[in-house]
Amino acid sequence: MGMRVRAQTSPFRNRIEIMGYRVAIVGATGNVGREMLAILEELNFPVDEMHALASRKSKGNEVSFGEKTIRCQDIEQFDFSTVDLVLMSAGGAVSREWSEKIGKAGPIVIDNSSAFRKDPDVPLIVPEVNPDHIKLAKKKNIVANPNCSTAQLVVALKPLHDAAKIKRAVVSTYQSVSGAGKEGMDELWNQTKAIYGLGDATPKKFPKQIAFNVLPFIGEFRDDGYTDEEAKMWDETHKMLDPDIKLTVTCVRVPVFVGHSEAVTLEFERPIAVEEARAILRDAPGIMVIDKHEDDGYITPVDAAGEHAVFVSRIRKDPTVEHGLNLWVVSDNLRKGAALNAVQIAQLLDEQGMLKTASGYRTLTVG
Ligand SMILES: NC(=O)c1ccc[n+]([C@@H]2O[C@H](COP(=O)([O-])OP(=O)(O)OC[C@H]3O[C@@H](n4cnc5c(N)ncnc54)[C@H](OP(=O)(O)O)[C@@H]3O)[C@@H](O)[C@H]2O)c1
Repeated sequence: MGMRVRAQTSPFRNRIEIMGYRVAIVGATGNVGREMLAILEELNFPVDEMHALASRKSKGNEVSFGEKTIRCQDIEQFDFSTVDLVLMSAGGAVSREWSEKIGKAGPIVIDNSSAFRKDPDVPLIVPEVNPDHIKLAKKKNIVANPNCSTAQLVVALKPLHDAAKIKRAVVSTYQSVSGAGKEGMDELWNQTKAIYGLGDATPKKFPKQIAFNVLPFIGEFRDDGYTDEEAKMWDETHKMLDPDIKLTVTCVRVPVFVGHSEAVTLEFERPIAVEEARAILRDAPGIMVIDKHEDDGYITPVDAAGEHAVFVSRIRKDPTVEHGLNLWVVSDNLRKGAALNAVQIAQLLDEQGMLKTASGYRTLTVG
């Protein structure tokens, strides 16, 4: 089947010119925004115009998009009716203020914050898991991108759930500091230097020292003693995959720059052997299995940084329950956990003919 495109034929050349989209990235100077610019270019997403937006303090600062350099504009002064697609990555407060307004102005918003993930009128999408939910995007012109830890988890769970139905999952995360934005990365770097040299190691972004330490706390405490980061993982897994999966989570921040890891214990309704699970995961979209019983036969966040895949290692039987497996799941939180998934959502909208170009929908079928 061919791609749905709006096309123009040139009288001078015997080829079809495919129109691209006018795209704006809000939060273009941030960790995720910069990755979005890189991945749109890497995946050849059809972009005709790119606008980089950030806060007023970044106005005029430059970001790279392929060979080009783009100057940042202030979100407050931008006319969103002049673009087709907006990738929002500037935090929940900015999304709550802007995303609905932008959606009403015309473009579709892919929102990277937690602001709309639980909204029943907004689809929450991981394209390998629930692409069919995308139709709901038309309701508010907003699609939500999940939390970084959930995105990689559901990619790994989906094919196993289809095969043997997951009853219960226990997940412990080992989340990198880049999940807390560029300030999180700066804090790990500065504290590491300060502890062994001169400098101030006082925690600012994280509540306790993160260098050479592990914090069993991400986000905010809830009344039940869990954190909101932990609750995001079960809420979002239920919305995208299956509300009947029982999921309990401990989220932990570790002194790693990029790449989230997860120790995952699964209990299934039906039998599933280790070899069968390994084969299913190998065939599944977006997953790479690295699972050999040797020193180098597993993945670490350092290996996963900069990669697109969700990596699965250490696939073992859990002998303490009737049908149980243990896995180790690692991915680049700035890529599959954020920017890559957002760009894959944009590709899905494009394939479904749900995005407009400057002069209408891309509707002619070619190829
Ligand atoms: N990092 C991850 O692993 C990850 C994963 C999934 C989702 N997310 C979500 O993605 C979003 C961004 O995360 P990040 O890691 O890229 O954070 P970051 O590195 O701290 O970057 C934040 C970006 O937002 C911009 N911004 C801040 N306040 C703004 C305002 N009032 N108006 C316009 N722009 C504003 C900043 O611009 P200035 O440079 O001008 O301040 C910067 O470009 C958050 O919602 C986060 O929850 C992150």
